[in-house]
Amino acid sequence: MQFRDLGAQYAVLKEGIDGAVARVLAHGRYINGPEVAELEKRLAEYVGVEHCVTCGNGTDALQLALMAWGAGPGDAVFVPDFTFFASGEAPTLLGATPVFVDVGERTFNLDPERLEEAVLYVEDSTDLVPKAVVAVDLFGLPADYPAIRKVCEKHGLLLLEDGAQGFGGSISGKMACSFGDISTTSFFPAKPLGCYGDGGAVFTDSDEWAALVRSYAVHGKGSMKYDNVRVGINSRLDTVQAAVLLEKLDAFDAYELDAVNKMAALYSNELADSGLTLPVVQEGFYSSWAQYTVQLSEGVDRTELQTRLKEKGVPTMVYYPKPMHKQDAFQDAYYCLDGCPTTGRLCETVLSLPIGPYCDSGDVEAVSCVLGC
Ligand SMILES: Cc1ncc(COP(=O)(O)O)c(C=O)c1O
Repeated sequence: MQFRDLGAQYAVLKEGIDGAVARVLAHGRYINGPEVAELEKRLAEYVGVEHCVTCGNGTDALQLALMAWGAGPGDAVFVPDFTFFASGEAPTLLGATPVFVDVGERTFNLDPERLEEAVLYVEDSTDLVPKAVVAVDLFGLPADYPAIRKVCEKHGLLLLEDGAQGFGGSISGKMACSFGDISTTSFFPAKPLGCYGDGGAVFTDSDEWAALVRSYAVHGKGSMKYDNVRVGINSRLDTVQAAVLLEKLDAFDAYELDAVNKMAALYSNELADSGLTLPVVQEGFYSSWAQYTVQLSEGVDRTELQTRLKEKGVPTMVYYPKPMHKQDAFQDAYYCLDGCPTTGRLCETVLSLPIGPYCDSGDVEAVSCVLGC
């Protein structure tokens, strides 16, 4: 069993993907070929926003968004304590100070009440200017945007949706990657919509920010590539990856998202009496199930369980073993209000199980069997 079976996906989509790649090799526009513009148009339509700007990866996408907003020294950027490193790395790289905020016990996502406490703390007790919130759609589930948006509006904060894991999710029919003032995603191969290398995208309704992101992504270009009006980076999605993504987007939209949700429902059914704490999806929310992550009871030996699962051919992962505020890289400058106890507990107890649109019920039964059901 694979943790995310990309080989099975390729076997199904091979003809279309091989043809799309061959077309790029034939026309030879490896950078900024026509597939890139076509993909940006399709992605913007899918998500329901005005602009999509593709780039080199999901980390650059976060950085580009924050560059467009001019985030830098003296700014506080609020980030969940339980996420992948890049969510806090991007603001830190630009000189802003990350303020780590605890997450919900069952959703794994930014807790809006803890967020407001952290904002008040920064306003009242530091010299930092609260600038933006990075809300992450962890494991595919959109963060609680209705509540987070209220906090942002009340305190004049920009909202950046880190949808690296969340593409395809939704809340009441509104798609992930449309909730932020700017939103981002990653096309890392194992993501809900992945390419065959690195890739990312930025989404926004703002003409001004989209233009700034396009400029920052190509060395701060002005009227053309050799007119440089600001210092930027070099971050592009190459044409081969765009061609692969166009093929994969069709399958994602037609059946993959639905299939992965069926797998998650099967897990939740099979594991209902397992004693594990299962992930929840709130009413009206829809997850793209980048991960199916359970929580073990405190005291259960996770490493021993992982070994037992591995012996039966079941790969598992621990996302994430360490709170952001404990990462050495942030020790020079960060805030974390109360030690983020929920994140601490999750880091000790979470375990992500194999899931994907090309798993079948036999896989779920095999995993559930080892987990004692
Ligand atoms: C939540 C989150 N943000 C950002 C990223 C960065 O994406 P990339 O690996 O494409 O740079 C990832 C990738 O794992 C992620 O999970």
